[in-house]
Amino acid sequence: MSMIARQCPDLRVTVADFNEDRIKAWNSDELPIYEPGLDEIVEEARGRNLVFTTDVRQAIESSEMIFVSVGTPTKAHGIGAGRAADLKYIESAARLIAEVSHGHKIVVEKSTIPVKTASAIRTILTSNTRNGATFEVLSNPEFLAEGTAIEDLRDPDRILIGGDPSSSGRDAVEALVEIYGRWVPRDRLITTNLWSSELSKLVANAFLAQRISSINSISALCEATGADVDEVARAVGADSRIGPKFLKASVGFGGSCFKKDVLNLVYLCESFGLREVADYWYQVVGINEWQKRRFVETMVRTLFNTLSGKRIAVLGFAFKKDTDDTRESAAIQVCTDLLAEHASVTIYDPRVDEATIRQDLEEAGVDVGDLAERLEVCSDPYSAAAGAHALAVLTEWDEFRELDLPRIQSDMLKPAFVFDGRSVLPYEELKRLGFEPFTIGRSLRV
Ligand code: UGA
Repeated sequence: MSMIARQCPDLRVTVADFNEDRIKAWNSDELPIYEPGLDEIVEEARGRNLVFTTDVRQAIESSEMIFVSVGTPTKAHGIGAGRAADLKYIESAARLIAEVSHGHKIVVEKSTIPVKTASAIRTILTSNTRNGATFEVLSNPEFLAEGTAIEDLRDPDRILIGGDPSSSGRDAVEALVEIYGRWVPRDRLITTNLWSSELSKLVANAFLAQRISSINSISALCEATGADVDEVARAVGADSRIGPKFLKASVGFGGSCFKKDVLNLVYLCESFGLREVADYWYQVVGINEWQKRRFVETMVRTLFNTLSGKRIAVLGFAFKKDTDDTRESAAIQVCTDLLAEHASVTIYDPRVDEATIRQDLEEAGVDVGDLAERLEVCSDPYSAAAGAHALAVLTEWDEFRELDLPRIQSDMLKPAFVFDGRSVLPYEELKRLGFEPFTIGRSLRV
């Protein structure tokens, strides 16, 4: 919304949320999320044509187009628990829109939702209309990735807009095309029917996640055979039909989207009786869980089959670099497993604060209070590594490429084991400096 406000100074953009703390933060110099370049965009538009408010009703009433961007968490109970999206926030947003609207409004689904949610929104809107309001529902899924959001929004590969084929549906699509068309070339504005748009979002994430699980499955084969997964990815990705992106082997993908969206797709297939299709996509998530477990198993095996009482330094807790987001981060599972092995864990991340780390581990089932002695969050990588038996890199922060490795080596216990879950550290140099390095997708034997 900030990017729309920035690119279209003549439009008034109101971001409304019931959460007062959040809105207060959006109105301050300390935005509630870290995203490179976002501060400048918000600063430029805020107060001009970008407003953050808790007055949700007024915001709906005074707008011609309403983007519904509420959360769609995975259901924790009942039918579809653990897989299906919980649409309660979508439903309450639609009911509120119906209640306060006058005149004609275009309602845009921005949240990622399972196919056919637009029709649920439309049903709620039309059966609860007061004041003679009319509605048109569009689907406009978001494809930005965290850490590169501003660039992804400024220069997107495509903008997808789904709408109804009726004439008022086509008018609504055209109204949204006109907004994006101010800065996005027309040939990148893809218009489809509603269901294609909704499904494309899930499928795009499923394909991206599938690439990572594919290369991660091959990383295990590389470790077993002496091939180097980075070399394999380079050779494979050079085929223009395959392409080089999203072939970086890692300790496992994280983030709020991939697992959730693939599970949504699985649930959707199951609901339509497509068992084999559901099983096929489920394996993308299965391999990811296995990859995280496998990483800790390698650590245990390498450290003479026990981590009990050993000090393990963890560098990086965010699910990827350039974000403070930890949702579904591989680090949560890895740290939980390390603590279950009775290791002491010292964690450093440049952007994630201690409270978030403790809360994430607690939610993963770790009794953080009980582990006061075995869990430490450090403010720099060197104090995390000092006195450690092993170091594990779990996020590919650029600053980890510039570490003073001789200093770390001399401060660690020997043998100084390094487990690089992101292949950001220089393997040959680590060996030369006297570390015992392990990198995902490289054999320990060569
Ligand atoms: C992802 C998609 O890339 C976006 O297009 C989509 O809009 C977004 O989900 C969403 O649905 O909202 P995001 O989760 O922010 O974006 O981050 P990604 O860059 O996709 O990374 C996801 C995870 O995969 C990270 O843990 C990352 O480290 C990992 N990854 C990525 C790898 O392990 N290897 C790779 O080669 C690439």
